[in-house]
Amino acid sequence: MAKFILNGQPVTADVESDTPLLWVIRDDLDMTGTKFGCGIGTCGACTVHVGGRATRSCITPVSSVEGAEITTIEGLSDNGDHPLQVSWQKLQVPQCGYCQSGQIMQAAALLKDIPNPSDKDIDAVMGGNLCRCMTYVRIRSAIHEAANATLESNDEQTA
Ligand code: FES
Ligand code: FES
Repeated sequence: MAKFILNGQPVTADVESDTPLLWVIRDDLDMTGTKFGCGIGTCGACTVHVGGRATRSCITPVSSVEGAEITTIEGLSDNGDHPLQVSWQKLQVPQCGYCQSGQIMQAAALLKDIPNPSDKDIDAVMGGNLCRCMTYVRIRSAIHEAANATLESNDEQTA
């Protein structure tokens, strides 16, 4: 039996201990925003946060996240209003959309570590998240947009 916290709620799933976290999230817990791409940790489509860190759920055995706090795209914000979700919509980043939940989860982890990243920072952290539709330029712009919006909002709150 796997037990962990998913998007703030305690969950359990009756699965083998070596089941990839991705399958538990999608098939047992019906959170299908996280996608399967390669299954070998090289595309980033399955990225979730485990204890706040961007993690490839396709190569993470569920036994390794026992008791951990896991966030998927469904839990990134209460109303789809995380600064990245806002900037993604504003700049119309997605094309087919398949890679995008992984892109946003990776970018959210980036902004937590580096609130105002340079292009180089973005390329270094986002380089492992592949997009067959080549939306990389818009992804980079949307990360800058979200970073700027967050910094401006923080400035207003401290003014
Ligand atoms: S599906 Fe997990 S990295 Fe590709
Ligand atoms: S938007 Fe289609 S794969 Fe990225």
